[in-house]
Amino acid sequence: MTEDRIKLIQPLVGEEELALIDEVLKSGYMTEGPKTKEFESKFAEYVGAGHGIATTSCTTAMDLSLRALGIGKGHEVIVPDFTYPATADVVRFVGATPILVDVDPESYNITAEHIREAYTPQTRCVMPVSLFGNPIDIEPIEDLAEEKELYLIEDAACSAGARRGQRRTGSMVDLTSFSFHPRKVITTGEGGMITTNSNELAELARSIKKFGMTAGAGGVSNFARAGTNYKLSDVLGAIGVVQLSKIDEIISKRIELANNYDKLLQDAKGIIPPKVDEGVRHVYQTYAVSITVDGARDRLIGDLRERNIESQIGTYSLHVQPSFAEVARIGNLETSEMLYKNLLALPLSHYMTSEDQERVVSTLDELLGKYQSGG
Ligand SMILES: Cc1ncc(COP(=O)(O)O)c(C=O)c1O
Repeated sequence: MTEDRIKLIQPLVGEEELALIDEVLKSGYMTEGPKTKEFESKFAEYVGAGHGIATTSCTTAMDLSLRALGIGKGHEVIVPDFTYPATADVVRFVGATPILVDVDPESYNITAEHIREAYTPQTRCVMPVSLFGNPIDIEPIEDLAEEKELYLIEDAACSAGARRGQRRTGSMVDLTSFSFHPRKVITTGEGGMITTNSNELAELARSIKKFGMTAGAGGVSNFARAGTNYKLSDVLGAIGVVQLSKIDEIISKRIELANNYDKLLQDAKGIIPPKVDEGVRHVYQTYAVSITVDGARDRLIGDLRERNIESQIGTYSLHVQPSFAEVARIGNLETSEMLYKNLLALPLSHYMTSEDQERVVSTLDELLGKYQSGG
């Protein structure tokens, strides 16, 4: 292994984040405070929402969203089968019933048709995922939600900065949840955010995430309801403020790299690049290609690693995981299972060059050629 390692992702963090962390440490105020508040308001403004509520992760943001909507025992929540387990786990954690549905083979997201098929009078909420940075096709979904009186909680863990036409992820549904894990568009190490346009839901979510607290007379807190502690420390809030100032630079680079992969893969055999709808700003948290050579995807991950190139699966098909064996589902979820077996996330690091991308594509080509000739 002589060539340099090509990383799957590398967060764009450095001196500016360090300087602001230093400021927080010196202020002596390290729990949630002014920096996290600044991050919340700037993030909400960036996505075009009325409120931002920072949390410890996207998982706790989704959990909090369900609790703010009063979703629990006896309620069904429609969730895509092709997602990270957290999307369905939060439904189980609040005592409601997840209903797994299949996804579209091209966008990898759920559609209004999948939701319609799964709807019952017990359905209260749908949790569409804007997977890999590709925003959901919102209009048919919101029309159906209105018709059936369903709440929408979007899992936008991967999709900060995404847009469909003029509509921005974070301002399209009742509550949107974002992740700031290091593999996401911007990072605070661990962290998450809810955005919403509802004053009432924002107030409820803020209260529940902070022990059920509400402001009382003379600045003394009241405890109005059962709550928890999902506050984001100011140390992490400070990182968020700096990261947000770079988000468009980060996304532009990711789009440039993705467009270059599209070109390099134009004539590749056995590899289908991702498809993007007209007028959509896909932010490419993940650039996932479909490997059409039977059984080759897992072999590729290992062989690429040996050649110093990091790659990953796309994401999980929940119904094949032991934890979801008993969970209700609609249909045989074959698209989800096919994507789970065949999608390959290619390296998309801010620091990679077009020569690195050429090396990735030529190595893929070489390996797939070898597998197909029986090697
Ligand atoms: C689609 C999706 N939802 C939720 C999560 C969970 O995010 P977090 O780690 O911030 O809880 C992830 C993380 O990978 C994800 O990919």
